Amino acid sequence: MKGIILAGGTGTRLYPITEGISKQLMPIYDKPMIFYPLSTLMSAGIRDILIITTPQDQESFTRLLKDGSHFGVRISYAVQESPRGLADAFIVGEDFIGNDSCCMILGDNIFYGDKFSKKLKEAFKNAEEGFATIFGYQVKDPERFGIMELDSDRNVLSLEEKPLKPKSKFAVTGLYFYPKGVSEYAKKVEPSKRGEIEITTLNDMYLQNKNLKAEILGEGFTWYDTGTFESEVDAILMIRSIQNNQDRVICCPEEIGYFNNWISKETLIERADLMSKNSYGQYLRKLLQEIAK
Ligand code: DAU
Repeated sequence: MKGIILAGGTGTRLYPITEGISKQLMPIYDKPMIFYPLSTLMSAGIRDILIITTPQDQESFTRLLKDGSHFGVRISYAVQESPRGLADAFIVGEDFIGNDSCCMILGDNIFYGDKFSKKLKEAFKNAEEGFATIFGYQVKDPERFGIMELDSDRNVLSLEEKPLKPKSKFAVTGLYFYPKGVSEYAKKVEPSKRGEIEITTLNDMYLQNKNLKAEILGEGFTWYDTGTFESEVDAILMIRSIQNNQDRVICCPEEIGYFNNWISKETLIERADLMSKNSYGQYLRKLLQEIAK
């Protein structure tokens, strides 16, 4: 399976901050925003990752993430010339995906919760078996999101993008798994009224073909689309609080890479040394001490 992080867009909702920096590189407490979706892909067991950026921001992402080997992944980069819509990720990434299944995550989406790795691995398996998987999360402002209507067995009945009269409160989060062939489907998506090739239209194709599964991220789960000042601050406070309470760093690619057996102890030591002056590096140092026991 291939992984894509979509990290382009205009970022105008976060101007003036994003006049000078890509949104997905902004800090969420102790790490850049993109570490969170990267960690999600790594937790799903995905090692081949394409990062799609705007032309002007690609260099900053390359400087930060390089070829990904310090996390045990293989990162490549592609440019989206203009924000044509989320489904465009599979057209821009067509050669990268090849004949493989693919998981796409939005670069501003943060997922955190119990048994998430298990859910990710099930979605991975679904994709290998020919089914797409989307993830629902209950929200208070459903008109801001893609919305899924569910029956009593939690099968998807309908999908709508930012409906004026939402049929449910379950938002479709920015994490999508597809079987091989997704680029061909994406090319068939017609632009919406706002001129974008919508991920919701793509998902609806899988729904109409009875090839779509939905997984609900329920109680105790946290999901943030950090697209506004408010949600970004909420996410920062949440991450700080969880990390301080649990005395750990969450969505730490070095940790995931090490425990997936993708990086050596020496690489972990190098990363710990690089950040020895802060709590992130000290956390890596603590992991090393625990490994040595
Ligand atoms: O976060 C989940 C929601 O994401 C879903 O519920 C919606 O169905 C989906 O359409 C999307 O809605 P947003 O209004 O959040 O999409 P937005 O245009 O803000 O784009 C999401 C991210 O993707 C954002 O960080 C910018 C990036 N992006 C967006 C577009 C349209 C790109 O990199 N390229 C693009 O062409």
